[in-house]
Amino acid sequence: MIKKVSVNTIQKIKDNGEKFSVLTAYDYSTAKYFDEAGIDIILIGDSLAMVALGYDTTHQIGVEEMSIFTKAVARGVNRAMVVTDMPFMSYNIDVESALTNVCNMVKFGANAVKIEGCSDYILNVIRRCVESGVPVMGHLGFTPQFLNTIGGYNIQGKSYDATLSILDQARKLEDAGVFSIVLEMVPEESAQYISENLRVPTISCGAGRYCAGQVMVSDDMLGKFSDFKPKFARKYGDMKSLILDCARKYDYDVKHGNYPSAEEVFNLSEDELKQLNLHRVVKNSL
Ligand code: KIV
Repeated sequence: MIKKVSVNTIQKIKDNGEKFSVLTAYDYSTAKYFDEAGIDIILIGDSLAMVALGYDTTHQIGVEEMSIFTKAVARGVNRAMVVTDMPFMSYNIDVESALTNVCNMVKFGANAVKIEGCSDYILNVIRRCVESGVPVMGHLGFTPQFLNTIGGYNIQGKSYDATLSILDQARKLEDAGVFSIVLEMVPEESAQYISENLRVPTISCGAGRYCAGQVMVSDDMLGKFSDFKPKFARKYGDMKSLILDCARKYDYDVKHGNYPSAEEVFNLSEDELKQLNLHRVVKNSL
């Protein structure tokens, strides 16, 4: 039987000084292949707003859309932990609606949720989730849902003071019960220092080599999304070229009568065909 990745698995990996992998996925087949490949955590990131739905920012996606993708991914996964990003404003109005939205994500197949930020209110939401049995992944450094208050896609924790401030936030998240913390767009040295001073594992998203986990947006990793490429994204494939190549070949074959071939169609039985041909002859002789 496959052993499901749990919060304990992730903590053990960190405690043993090992590494774990996190990739985003948004559909059933991709999630299934990532699971088969041994990815430890599959994140339905709200990055899907930009890379899969074509929105300008992650602000435009809501609970309903995230639910659809959560269900699809969860159906494809056996081993990995499935984590859903709580979208913009889905946990910020009040604790009750936050818990309702979180609870729905779990019902749709998430094993945990990710929540950005560290205000007193958010710490309370995290505490209530964990008390209710929902593991929470924190997210500090550059937090895309705060893009407008941060003022741009800016690196965070660039000074000694800023590093200590992120560490202080991370400790509060840890006390509130998160099982891991994403550090996004943080200098490597700052992320290393923060990670060394926490019990829970950190996950680097452009935060260097010293976090226990690494996360990447799968469309960047696969070379599918091409509107822009973050410095920390590494392209392991060129799906854009593959898709263009396949689509062009298909288009050519359709327009030149090469698709479908005789092997790619359904046929009538000989008796049915005889009757049809007879009907054709009678019809033409009238
Ligand atoms: O939305 C997302 O995909 C994320 C990860 C990149 C951490 O938040």
